[in-house]
Amino acid sequence: MQTPYYEYDLGLLESTLAAIDRAVAGERDWHVHYAIKANANPLLLPLIRQHGLGIDCVSGGEIKVALDAGFDASQIVFAGVGKADWEIDLALESGIACFNVESEAELDVIEERCRLLDRKAHIAFRVNPDVDAHTLAGITTGKAENKFGIEIPMLRPIIRKALESRYLVFEGLHFHIGSQITDMGPFIQLCDKVNQLQDSLEEEGIRLNIINVGGGLGVDYDNPLQNMIPDFQAYFDVFRNRLNLRQGQQLHFELGRAVVAQCGRLITRVLYVKQGTVRKFAIVDAGFTDLIRPAFYGAHHSIVNLTSHGEPEKYDVVGPICESSDVFGKDAVLPRTSRGDLIAIMTAGAYGETMASCYNQRRLPPSEVKE
Ligand code: LLP
Repeated sequence: MQTPYYEYDLGLLESTLAAIDRAVAGERDWHVHYAIKANANPLLLPLIRQHGLGIDCVSGGEIKVALDAGFDASQIVFAGVGKADWEIDLALESGIACFNVESEAELDVIEERCRLLDRKAHIAFRVNPDVDAHTLAGITTGKAENKFGIEIPMLRPIIRKALESRYLVFEGLHFHIGSQITDMGPFIQLCDKVNQLQDSLEEEGIRLNIINVGGGLGVDYDNPLQNMIPDFQAYFDVFRNRLNLRQGQQLHFELGRAVVAQCGRLITRVLYVKQGTVRKFAIVDAGFTDLIRPAFYGAHHSIVNLTSHGEPEKYDVVGPICESSDVFGKDAVLPRTSRGDLIAIMTAGAYGETMASCYNQRRLPPSEVKE
């Protein structure tokens, strides 16, 4: 296939999903949703559906893709700080399981849309738990200064408002503290916050049917081949051991990256090798339009030369786009590299293809299944 393109290893996706199955086995009140923003490629969705995962959406477009891929509306939750009226209507008309509501203003609009469409909305409030996930600055979400969620001191009157509405069914609370979290500490802190909050709400007679702890489990970008499947057991055990769930209460998860990151890689070809006075560049045909994470977040992806077995040398692996941030890796150690070599940029299955753009009038990257 013409480079650059994404290549997906469905065998690895299957093994990853099986590891999730094992880690949640026996937990009847747990529901794992896949955060489809990580990757909505139709090559992957059927496997994810077969393993019984639901879908976490953040736009009307994602709701449509999930429904088209055969997910049942009752398995879909809808989050996001800025839901447009048409997106709310689509969600109501499809009968999705739950809205994760992020502000009082949004609650008012959802209630109004329900009145107009004569529908009821099941809602949970997204709470900003003020937990520092110690992750990349661009992807932290649970701190008080972030735009996401409702701060705890402002929560009670909004819950009361929902409880009083005949159009709204209050289901519970939603939390998401950030992404690419590899240390279990922040998840432990999250459990403690949730426990505290649940106790204090119950004292006031407020009961939660659903607790949604979001996503965020990270993957190993540095050594993907040694660590292809995240430690789901350790992650789920945190919640199993630390969260005080009530009888019959549902626990929801929304994992994106941990499900799909390792099963995808971006395949690109070396166009030119250019020796500067200071650095040597391997100029490849993929750019940040295909995979924006290094340019946008300073994220590291392991880079492999699939063709050459020469002596190791250092290269700056850069793309063709007219911006100096179009760099996949500085000082990447690769076997001696020449024009025509195939390069794999690893761990690109999550937030790769879904964040691609057409800047410089480039085509969106196509994809294929690894043989
Ligand atoms: N739930 C909510 C409410 C979220 O905002 C997100 C991700 C997830 C679940 C899934 O998080 P995950 O399990 O994938 O960490 N583009 C960035 C990541 C942005 C994450 C946004 N929210 C990146 O490339 O690193």
